[in-house]
Amino acid sequence: MNPPAGYADRVTKTPAFRLGVLGSGKGSNFVAICEAMDAGLLPAEVAVVISDVAEAGILKHATDRGLPARYLAPGKFRTKLDEDAEAAYLTALREARVDLVVLAGFMRILKGEFLRAFEGRVVNIHPSLLPSFPGLAAWKQALDYGVKVTGCTVHYVDQGVDTGPIIGQRAVPVLDGDTAESLHARIQEAERQLYPATIAAIARGRVAVRGRLTTGFGAGQPVDR
Ligand code: GAR
Repeated sequence: MNPPAGYADRVTKTPAFRLGVLGSGKGSNFVAICEAMDAGLLPAEVAVVISDVAEAGILKHATDRGLPARYLAPGKFRTKLDEDAEAAYLTALREARVDLVVLAGFMRILKGEFLRAFEGRVVNIHPSLLPSFPGLAAWKQALDYGVKVTGCTVHYVDQGVDTGPIIGQRAVPVLDGDTAESLHARIQEAERQLYPATIAAIARGRVAVRGRLTTGFGAGQPVDR
């Protein structure tokens, strides 16, 4: 006799791994993460999307997909959240029961209380091969410096700027005649592959961290199929 409909789900379903995504920009990384989930390649769900920019594309992408999306004002500083804003972000992420905070183009530095609350559970994608070119417009820094290979890095977030343990990286060539825009576009293509794959490895419990060293992901293999 067949079990009743939905039986297998009720018996075997483990709670989903819940992502809280923070972004300030157009949201191409966020879309790639959603597409990997839709394709069954990333065992997680988006619990909430939060932006410090009211008109950010990432909020529109989330709303279009019927996902919970919120603008939360960042407060009085330019490069970080002020105390009230930090508390509001923490409340929203806790209310959404987030397992992992995913920074997808979030252009503010997260500090003290926030990182203590989500210790070891905040990841970021940065558009260079760290530790080269931390900070803003890393693709432009790479171009101006004259490197021939750059790329992107997914790392855990610590108290420094782009200094936390590296989980995965992907190399991207710098081509003759590249402009800041063409190089950034090539790096973003790599980001759209690397970030979902890295988050999938974390969601599957494959990534271990010991001090600065992480294991379990290598240099960034494609999402398991
Ligand atoms: C990405 O290229 C990401 O690496 C970068 O912002 C862009 C966001 O694009 N992040 C940083 O520079 C963080 N220091 P998206 O909104 O299309 O995902």
